[in-house]
Amino acid sequence: MKSSSNYFSSLLFLCFLLFVSVNSFEELNNVKRSNFPDGFLFGAATSAYQIEGAFLEDGKGLSNWDVFSHTNGRIKNGDNGDIADDHYHRFQEDVELMHSIGLNSYRFSISWSRVLPRGGFGKVNFAGVMFYDKLIDSLLLKGITPFVTLNHHDHPQELEEKYGAWLNPIMQEEFLYFAQICFESFGDRVKYWTTINEPNMFAEMAYVRGVYPPARCTPPFGNCSAGNSDTEPLVAMHNMLLAHAKAAKLYREHFQARYGGLVGIVVHSFMYKPLMNNAYDRDAAYRAFVFTAAWVFDPLVHGDYPPEMRKYLLDTLPSFTSDERKLIKDSIDFMGINHYGTLYAKDCIYSTCVCSNSSCIAGGDHPIHGYLITLAEKDGVSIGEPTGMSRFFVVPKGMEEIVDYMTKRYHNKPMFVTENGYSSLNPTTAQADELQHDIKRVEFHKSYLASLAKAIRKGADVRGYFIWSLMDNFEWTDGYELKFGLYYVDRATLDRVPKLSAKWYRDFLTNSSLNGEETGKAISLKYAQAADHLSDK
Ligand code: NOJ
Repeated sequence: MKSSSNYFSSLLFLCFLLFVSVNSFEELNNVKRSNFPDGFLFGAATSAYQIEGAFLEDGKGLSNWDVFSHTNGRIKNGDNGDIADDHYHRFQEDVELMHSIGLNSYRFSISWSRVLPRGGFGKVNFAGVMFYDKLIDSLLLKGITPFVTLNHHDHPQELEEKYGAWLNPIMQEEFLYFAQICFESFGDRVKYWTTINEPNMFAEMAYVRGVYPPARCTPPFGNCSAGNSDTEPLVAMHNMLLAHAKAAKLYREHFQARYGGLVGIVVHSFMYKPLMNNAYDRDAAYRAFVFTAAWVFDPLVHGDYPPEMRKYLLDTLPSFTSDERKLIKDSIDFMGINHYGTLYAKDCIYSTCVCSNSSCIAGGDHPIHGYLITLAEKDGVSIGEPTGMSRFFVVPKGMEEIVDYMTKRYHNKPMFVTENGYSSLNPTTAQADELQHDIKRVEFHKSYLASLAKAIRKGADVRGYFIWSLMDNFEWTDGYELKFGLYYVDRATLDRVPKLSAKWYRDFLTNSSLNGEETGKAISLKYAQAADHLSDK
């Protein structure tokens, strides 16, 4: 009797599991544009240095990245952004590509050294301003809303050499001047402004690990000729936050009423899960969020750094004066989140952390990261499918979780997913054809969009989703090896070839039959056939 009741309860449980998994499978494969609110921005993103090229044309000055990428050994395969995707000369064609997919928005950045070749030391380069003028007009003609970033990792080299760039408070005024020129030149047509892209990632890469310019760091994080990994990232961030707040104030006081636009900032926002289900690792997962995303958002929403950062960093964390606190508090109209993946966090305060094997992503046992390490594996099992980027694993649920979390912590402030993307595995060994049949990228975006739709259904005020990236481009220290694009770019001819994902995005945006009621397998098959047509073209 007892065994038959056990049998029935197991059966019931199995049915339940089946029901849940069929449902989530259905949900994943049925994500539709209509699951998102009216007016939702569906776009793709790029940045100036990663696509423009023309690094010395029409009066452009040298940027920090121009100089850095020309330094031996800095970039994989000796690549650089001199030509990149030659977007400077092909922007009309690129706007056509966006239009053919049906994007209603395009996120790009303005090259500071194209507009102000010498920063505040020189004059405005009108040829540079004209370039963005034409780009913005071409987008608007096609009904594509420009979503503009002022600073995406690049600034005039002269500011680096004369001031030490973000380590110097003068950079706040330099940035303000650049922002003013952009608001004056393009403000009548640009309604979405973000000041700085991923200041948290930039601070980490440039001043903790020293792998982005100006390549400053100290052991154990890296071997640089100068720097201080414990303090400089904090100083650089402090200046970036104040620079943001000054530019936002300028926009709000002098442009917002006239033009009705919004100003925000973009933050690198991973989701973190406790490695073990205990209080220590739960707190480590919380600290991982605090020491990355909240490092930026807390000051700009609440008016100060998170208390946990102060607790562990003490006086090495700079302080805001009371006037500065007023300036930074509430200085964003929206939050831009770049979300790519999820990692485990392990506490290093109460337990010993050894961060030596390849699953150990960053760390550890160090105040600057909140005394924790982040890992991609638990008991030998990966947190998600790996991608071409060593820190990025496919964990679709993380999208819903990070949006839920941001929604709560920042009182449902409007949010845009300003980047989400998949980099192909084994891009060096794969053939061009394989890279263009990017079924995994299609599945990635479908599942992340389904997860985002769930968060929106629960009430999150998310207003847009931008795929990184419109086309394969210069992936910083990885050069052209890592590929995130919807379009494949032939490095010899610079021809843009639509991948399967470009076609899928187009069909998703037009609610075409390929996204209808079909199951994942059928879709994959259909897309494989569709891709054959694309490559026949
Ligand atoms: C975020 C950065 O904003 C972008 O420049 C970079 O290429 C992507 N992540 C992919 O790593």
